[in-house]
Amino acid sequence: MKKFIHDFEVSLNNQITDDYFALNLKCPVSLPPILPGQFAEVLVGNSAVTYLRRPFSIYDVDYSKNELSLLIKKVGNGTLALSNLKVGETLNLVYPLGNSFSIPKGEKALLVGGGVGIAPMLLLSRMLKEKGFQTDVLIGGRTKNDILEPDKYSAFGNVYITTDDGSMGEKGMVTQHSVFAENVSEYSQIYACGPDPMMKAVARVAASNNIPCEISLENTMACGIGACLCCVVETVDGNKTTCIEGPVFDTKKLVI
Ligand SMILES: Cc1cc2nc3c(=O)[nH]c(=O)nc-3n(C[C@H](O)[C@H](O)[C@H](O)COP(=O)(O)OP(=O)(O)OC[C@H]3O[C@@H](n4cnc5c(N)ncnc54)[C@H](O)[C@@H]3O)c2cc1C
Ligand code: FES
Repeated sequence: MKKFIHDFEVSLNNQITDDYFALNLKCPVSLPPILPGQFAEVLVGNSAVTYLRRPFSIYDVDYSKNELSLLIKKVGNGTLALSNLKVGETLNLVYPLGNSFSIPKGEKALLVGGGVGIAPMLLLSRMLKEKGFQTDVLIGGRTKNDILEPDKYSAFGNVYITTDDGSMGEKGMVTQHSVFAENVSEYSQIYACGPDPMMKAVARVAASNNIPCEISLENTMACGIGACLCCVVETVDGNKTTCIEGPVFDTKKLVI
């Protein structure tokens, strides 16, 4: 797939909580097709100490407005600088990078996101709804403050929530939620993105129920274009780059 580099204009900087924000970014030319699971490498021009681009999943795309959005957690200098962007400022993106989630073989899919790992699931749920699949979205977080914009997913499927402390939805980890405990065999495909232990737990449940499972890895990246090899992951077919051959992997192929 062809890659592009464009200066986007910030059309909205939505501070969701103290830790999370979403940027709406307007493209100066017609947006190319963007697939769920793909990401952008963002040049953090307003941070003097952030030299390398930072990778972020493409959260949503609105072709009618020629905009895409990013959902971001503040974890360091780069993301903190991005959170300070003002409407009208520009942000340089290389995109769309990486592979994408596959289409389910059956009619019902479960999408699982932990914290900001929910980001690639919005575009995925939108696409699955458009293609006529039944979609359940399970959002997990440590507390209610880590459950990000759950209402956005209701247009595309049923939304379920878990928090570690029980402050929202069912108490416990995502794999303890009743959609897993009671109904997991209904799904023909599971997708997950979030902290490694969460994705491993989801992959184990999927494997024990013989359900295909894809996870989106958030390995540390530098170049984002297959040159530096800093994002390599071990698979049964040898080492693969997360930026080119991922970030989405079939869990059966990963050595985890
Ligand atoms: C394909 C891909 C998609 C991603 N999508 C999103 C997204 O949609 N939203 C989002 O908020 N983040 C996403 N990330 C993670 C994001 O790239 C990092 O949080 C960001 O690069 C941190 O930059 P920083 O300069 O703020 O932090 P740094 O100063 O670089 O690091 C600060 C702290 O964050 C940790 N950190 C850095 N990178 C990561 C990472 N990849 N995962 C976990 N911890 C990290 C560092 O170890 C350090 O402790 C994604 C990563 C990848 C590879
Ligand atoms: S980030 Fe450089 S090879 Fe993947």
